[in-house]
Amino acid sequence: MPVTTTDDDHRQPDHDQLLDLIRAAGRAPSAHNTQPWATRIRDGGVDLAVDPRRTLPAGDQTGRDTLLALGAWLECFTIVAATAGLRTMITILPAVEQVDQLELTGAPDFGRPVARVELVPGAAASPFSATDVAERAVFRGRLIPGPQLWDDLTDCDLPPWLQLRRLDSPAMHRLLRLGTGYLLSHPLVLSELIAWLRFTPADARTRRDGLDVRSLGLPTGVGRLLRSWLRHPARSRATLRLVTAIGTPLELFWRARTGDRPPDRAPVSNVAGVDHLVLIADPRLASESAGSDASTGSAGPAGSAQPAGSARPAGSAGSTSPAGIGAAALIEAGRALLRCWLHAHRHGQRVAPHSEIIDAPFAAAALHARLGLSRSQLPLAVFSSGHPDGTSPRSHRLTDTP
Ligand SMILES: Cc1cc2nc3c(=O)[nH]c(=O)nc-3n(C[C@H](O)[C@H](O)[C@H](O)COP(=O)(O)O)c2cc1C
Repeated sequence: MPVTTTDDDHRQPDHDQLLDLIRAAGRAPSAHNTQPWATRIRDGGVDLAVDPRRTLPAGDQTGRDTLLALGAWLECFTIVAATAGLRTMITILPAVEQVDQLELTGAPDFGRPVARVELVPGAAASPFSATDVAERAVFRGRLIPGPQLWDDLTDCDLPPWLQLRRLDSPAMHRLLRLGTGYLLSHPLVLSELIAWLRFTPADARTRRDGLDVRSLGLPTGVGRLLRSWLRHPARSRATLRLVTAIGTPLELFWRARTGDRPPDRAPVSNVAGVDHLVLIADPRLASESAGSDASTGSAGPAGSAQPAGSARPAGSAGSTSPAGIGAAALIEAGRALLRCWLHAHRHGQRVAPHSEIIDAPFAAAALHARLGLSRSQLPLAVFSSGHPDGTSPRSHRLTDTP
């Protein structure tokens, strides 16, 4: 999506230019490609709200992935605006702390936006461009080890309360089994995932959102077969029961095999292989950071008007969402996560996210133990990074069509 630039650097963006920026930022990633953000153009800027119908009440009970996606959207918006010669001033609003209380069937509430973005002329420096935002994609096929990317995190620009830790491959494989076992043994989580699968292009929703089965590595024939099979509610229920009947003992078996393993305290260093990375927050440091912002008496701009590295999670100090960390900090973490994924993209690598490891309580506990984390440290995202052995179909967006 091309982003138009203003002829006059001192002019505020007009409605059409804001629309272009919103469309370009719509390439932001979100769990199951739900795109839980909603935008409204206002004078010289944009209000950001949550679309509760696009959240994942079963799979993302704490709202962590929703808020990470909102953060990713804000970061994409900031980058595409910078490419267009504009600087964003982002204010995270108090309503962000009540995202978990939204009625799930309700429309986005623009009376209570979670963030307000104002645009002023003058681009902030960013290592990334609108082209990076447009072309970034996750890859779920085979990843091939690439050159070491994750020792120099300058472009990821992590705030001091976030760190990226590497996870060894054997542990990653064990945790993936545990995460998959959890998914297969929880019918609500599984049926929610199925609801966001787009089995064939004939599904009218395919061009808007959700996961195209081809992006999961399934042949189109399998997609068609699954679609016609699952179309009948009785068959669909029976299949779900069968899968969970197999998944439950499988999960127990994998749990029993995991056992206690000593923590891996090896420093992050070069390893020959695909990299597995964990984004970890320290909620205590995050709320201290928010506290120092709060001392200015406002929720403080978290945008690129200040150098991204100094961006702080806004909101009341010490406030925590059900995810165990302040909602505003989660938004900030989503921005940092997006920078990490763009960092991989810029170096020709792709990431394969694995939230199932954090969503499954047993897998999350095993991850904690493996990395020797303290009780308060909070893994927010797990992903693998490497060279893609192929291409994945481009995911669709609500903003693809005018
Ligand atoms: C917070 C978050 C969690 C995600 N978790 C997973 C995951 O567990 N498994 C997965 O395959 N993709 C995951 N994704 C990737 C999305 O499915 C992907 O971004 C979306 O389908 C759009 O595709 P694209 O990023 O290639 O444009 C996650 C993305 C975000 C932002």
